Amino acid sequence: MNMEPSTQKLIHTFGALADLGQEIAGTGDFSEMVRTSMHLLLGTLALRRGAVVECSGPGPLRCVAVWGLGDHALNGFEIGESEMESFLCDNITESMLSNTSTTNIFLNRYREKLANEGIELVVPMIVRGEVTGLVLLGGKASGEEFSNDDFETIRAMVRHIGVGIHTHRLLEQLAQRAEENRKLYDDLRAIYRDTVRAFAAAIDIKDKYTQGHSERVGRYSEIIARELGWSEDEVEGIQIAGYLHDIGKLIVDRDIINAPYHIDAKSSSELNRHPNAGYEILATIRHPYADLPFMAKHHHERLDGRGYPDGLMDQQIPMGAKIVSLADSFDAMTTDRPYRRRRSFEDVVVDLRENSGTQFDGKVVAAFARAILKEVKGEAKERRITKMLGKSYLEGEHVETLLVELIMDLEEDFSRKGAKAQRGT
Ligand SMILES: [Fe+2]
Repeated sequence: MNMEPSTQKLIHTFGALADLGQEIAGTGDFSEMVRTSMHLLLGTLALRRGAVVECSGPGPLRCVAVWGLGDHALNGFEIGESEMESFLCDNITESMLSNTSTTNIFLNRYREKLANEGIELVVPMIVRGEVTGLVLLGGKASGEEFSNDDFETIRAMVRHIGVGIHTHRLLEQLAQRAEENRKLYDDLRAIYRDTVRAFAAAIDIKDKYTQGHSERVGRYSEIIARELGWSEDEVEGIQIAGYLHDIGKLIVDRDIINAPYHIDAKSSSELNRHPNAGYEILATIRHPYADLPFMAKHHHERLDGRGYPDGLMDQQIPMGAKIVSLADSFDAMTTDRPYRRRRSFEDVVVDLRENSGTQFDGKVVAAFARAILKEVKGEAKERRITKMLGKSYLEGEHVETLLVELIMDLEEDFSRKGAKAQRGT
């Protein structure tokens, strides 16, 4: 192709600039980016040596990339406040070291040292009114002087490198902020969790017969949700819901909560206010988890609509409330009360089987049974349920059989329901 040499050079420079742009926009290693950019600059103009040094304020200059100079050639270079200002005020785009008439403090201070290293040109990288660093360049391999075109190319490429360094710093600051925010957020979450547990303890203290109930309901709920494949965030949310499900009891009279035997209708309706009261308390707080107030509100609903406070039917009850409801009932059945001993595990399994589909959601019961079975068979990492129930409660061979049968029964129910739904009856 026939082209004017100057046009060819322009195209070459243009290509180098495009490469540089790509290099700077890349997300790869930062020092590598600066090194490649400098090599592009040296290659474009056929320069013997060069270096990119950065500074993020007065102090020592940090060498990011160097070519054709000794590794330690730039050690000990510092830039002071007034020297940085002198670059900005004098509006220097580049300065030949051979020009001794400059008043720039930095150049005058290091002229000899730099010249000894074969540096001929100093170009400050100025981005948004700040000196980001300097590009130091040696002469052309051909021994020719720099032309005006060369200076323009140098200015353009140095500006690109400067912007790249500046952007990198911003991204680093951003990453640091994000990390700080994440820590702050984690702290807040931990504070939130601790506060919730303190609340749970307050609820349980009011009810002297059910010590630790809320804490256990929280843990059971978490285990069930995990078995159902919920995400970690959702699992954390349901645990909190478990801790707080009875928070409405804080407004119910202590004597009613602690009545050892059967309570009369009036007291009973007073006690039954606690889900709605819980909802009202929780609805005023902003929680990191969705639906928390509804889980408290509906933990006494039943699938057959005979629960309270709203008599919701199966599909209308939030899944979280179904989980908390099972965890709540399970804990009530498996802990001693002053007026009755806890029920045997066999008895509890019968209860769960009989009430699946009317009171409890069979899928939730099956998930809980699977989680218990895993512990019984030694397949779980931790035996958390076993710990809560006490060592001997889940002992005996019949326990495994009971659980397997319960799960099979429930699964049969699901497939029968599925077939029914398919037939449209
Ligand atoms: Fe309750």
